[in-house]
This record gives sequence, C-alpha cells and structure tokens, in this order.
Amino acid sequence: MNEPERPLRLDATREEALEHAAKLVAEAWRSFDRFRPEEPALDDRVRELIRGALPEEPVPVHEALDDAARILDESIAQPRPRYFAFIGSSGLEIGTIGDLLAQTYDINLAVDARAATVVEHQAVRWVAEFVGYPSAGGAFTSGGTISNLTAIAVARERALPGSRHRGLAASHPAVYCSEEVHYSVTRAVELLGIGSDNLRAIPLDGLRRMRPDLLAETIDADLAAGVTPVAVIATGGTTLTGAVDPIGELADVCGPRDVWLHVDGAYGLPAAAVRPELFDGLERADSCSIDAHKWLYVPKACGVVMSRHAGVFAGAFAHEEGYLPHQQHELHAADITLEYSRPFRALKAWLAFRAHGAKQFRDAIAKNLDEAEFLYRHAQATEDFEVMEAPPQLSITPIRHMPDGVVPNPHNQALADAIQSDGRVYLASALIDGDVWLRPCFVNFRTTEDDVLALMDVARALGERLARDGA
Ligand SMILES: Cc1ncc(COP(=O)(O)O)c(C=O)c1O
Repeated sequence: MNEPERPLRLDATREEALEHAAKLVAEAWRSFDRFRPEEPALDDRVRELIRGALPEEPVPVHEALDDAARILDESIAQPRPRYFAFIGSSGLEIGTIGDLLAQTYDINLAVDARAATVVEHQAVRWVAEFVGYPSAGGAFTSGGTISNLTAIAVARERALPGSRHRGLAASHPAVYCSEEVHYSVTRAVELLGIGSDNLRAIPLDGLRRMRPDLLAETIDADLAAGVTPVAVIATGGTTLTGAVDPIGELADVCGPRDVWLHVDGAYGLPAAAVRPELFDGLERADSCSIDAHKWLYVPKACGVVMSRHAGVFAGAFAHEEGYLPHQQHELHAADITLEYSRPFRALKAWLAFRAHGAKQFRDAIAKNLDEAEFLYRHAQATEDFEVMEAPPQLSITPIRHMPDGVVPNPHNQALADAIQSDGRVYLASALIDGDVWLRPCFVNFRTTEDDVLALMDVARALGERLARDGA
C-alpha cells in the first residue's frame, strides 16, 4: 500500500486511519442504541486538549482521532434516544456513511457536476413525492433557515418584479405568518429588506394555528392601504407545539388575492407522509421547506426547498457572470440558490431512501407520533403533571409538573435546569402563553416507550425533590 510522496501525509496509512475511524464510529453507534445513565463531565484529557495552542508538529493520527472521539463523547449528541430537547436529529447511520462518501469526492454542486447534479434533482423529487408535494424543482440547502430565506426571496421578486435589482425603496411590502412562526422567517424578512416591522403575526385559533379569517382581513386592509403582500408563511409544524396551520384554508385566502403561499415544514412536513389529512392543501402551496436533518433522521445539514412552479428560483437568483457557464442554466444550482460552494448534501437523503425505502421512514415517523401521544395520555392520567388541552398534532408534547404547593413557573424552570444538569434525559423548557413548560420533542428513530416513561420518571423524581426543598 504505497502512498505517493506528497505534502500532508499522515503517520499511518490512509487505510489504517480509516479503519481506526470506522472502529470509533461503530463504538459511537453502539452507544446510541441505548440511553446512557448519565452524561459524563469533561475529563482532564479533554480539558487539556481544549486549551491547546495551534500545533506546529503532527501528533500520530490514531491519537488525534481518539482525542476527537473523546471530545465528541463528552458533548451533547442529539442521536441519543433520550435527547428530547428542541428538534433533534438522529444521525441515521446510512446518512453518516453518505456524508463520508460525499465529502471524499468533495464535489461542488454550484455548477453542473454531472451525475451528482442529476441525483440532487432526483432526491428533491423523492422528498417531494414522500410528502405529497407536486414539486417542479428545488434544491438542497443547509436547513430551514436558508430554505425559508430562499423561498421568500422568490416571493419578493414575484410580488415586486425587479426589486432584486432596484431594492425596495419605493415599495411597502408585507409578509404574513402565525404568531408562532419560526424566527428564521423574521430573520429572512430582515435580510431581504422587507423588515420585521412588516411581518404581520396573525393570531392563533384554539389549536395554535394561524386564523385564516384574520389573515384575510389583514391582507385586505393592507391592500387597501397600498401595501404589497409578498407572501404568507404557513407553518407545517410549529417549533413550539407542533401545530400545523390550516394550509388549504390559507390557500383559499392567498389564491384570489394572488399572494404566494410558502409552507415552512422544516420540522413537521415529513409527517405528511403518515397524516396527509393534517396537511390538506399542501399541493396548492407555491413553495415549501423541509429539513431531512430533522424528521427524516439524516445528519445535519440537509434541508430542501422546492416550488411547484418551474423556473421561479432562477428568477430570483440567476446571474450572468463571465466565469459561470450558462449553456445549461437549469443544471447550475448557483443559479437557483444562495450558496456558491455547495456540498453534495442530497447524497445522504438519496442513500437513506434507497437503503431503507419509504415505508421504513413512514413507520419511524408514525412511531414518533405515537410516542408523543403516549406521553400525552400518560401525563394526563397523573395527578402531578399537566398537559395542554388538545392532544399533540405532531410529535411535541408540552408537559408541566404541578404537584400541590409549588409556584408553577419557577418550579418548572428550576426543573428544566435540574433535568439538564442531571443528564439522564435531555429536555428543554419553552414559554407557552407566558407559562414555563417542559417541551419534549420526538424525532429520533432510536427512542422507545421506555425512554418516554423515563422522561416522566426523571422529571417527577427531580421535581419532587425541588418541591421538598422549596424551590
Ligand atoms: C419550523 C422551523 N422552521 C425553520 C427552522 C430552522 O431550521 P434550521 O435549523 O435547519 O435552519 C426550524 C428549526 O427548528 C423550525 O422548527
């Protein structure tokens, strides 16, 4: 196994380094199969490593890899089955392997890269087909933030043609969303010059979904005042509670008023493959975002943005630069997205669909939906936990620990902090209508019902201790 003479050689052969790395990866996967009883504290070796200055001379590659694995093992890893905070990701094994392969070839999908470019288009179609969206084209992105920004840029150019060149100086644009929209939309309107003061937060109904009647009123008032509605952003699974805005009814408002409807399904849209009725009207949305690195389980970063209208992304993003070949516009992702250097993110989603098949994904998503429901029913049946009035629409189940005699908000905040330092389960708190809740989210294929019960047991044990200690 003679490697060529060249700079940047390791002290072991590439094959040995890869074999060693493969062992470390397999160990990590084994450790994710089951919960671990607690999160380890940073040990002396890691403390020493993170203080280290830029090394001038090499260390043996096996040692460097062992150190990297040790740092990772002492970090908060979302693939662990009892990670319930935020919206985690699971690091699906075939996705990790896909990343390794993709990074090995290090293809740039800015301009046509032949087979990889076509596979990216195919993977967009597969994701679209999986959720039942009639996509005419789209692209992989680094996630919901960039997908939402991309779609709103398209909507802005459509509502105000030429504004990408002229700017927005003489216009009065507005974007509409639910009060519980993800803040990536707020950031997008800020970056696109629309301004977050012109983001209209439409009040919610009893299920925490955007109210179509109030949306219609707000748009009509804006139109009468000379404002240009750029887009309505429906959320297909809010980050706070998993509420799905009524997409069909929102499409009824947008259609006659000719307003672009974007569905931010970064978190929830995969559930359309299992509960299509919740996403009724999705096929009428002008564009949508979906994160494969959330509920399609593959590792970050893997988002998708797509539209049912052909050619719209190029209308907002294409440039004629001398150094870009333009004979095959439709194959140049740089003409339809924000980024130039683009890794082959699509490969891990493509491989995951091939290696598992769509059915396995539907089953895993259905299991997560069941876990959310299971927690809801269990917590509801107890004396000391409170749940929200309506059962979860998707896989987020907010609960509050409410034993007699505690002050609910400080108690639940202290409990969320105690759970995080305890380390047996990982949970975050959330503010819902000004109240502090524990907010577990189930998007991991490794999680079991035992893990869900452990969540309640740990919360109860720590909560009782805090209540006894008067916190
Ligand atoms: C509804 C929604 N939209 C957008 C985002 C942002 O996605 P990303 O973190 O992939 O940029 C999130 C992240 O949680 C989300 O829940």
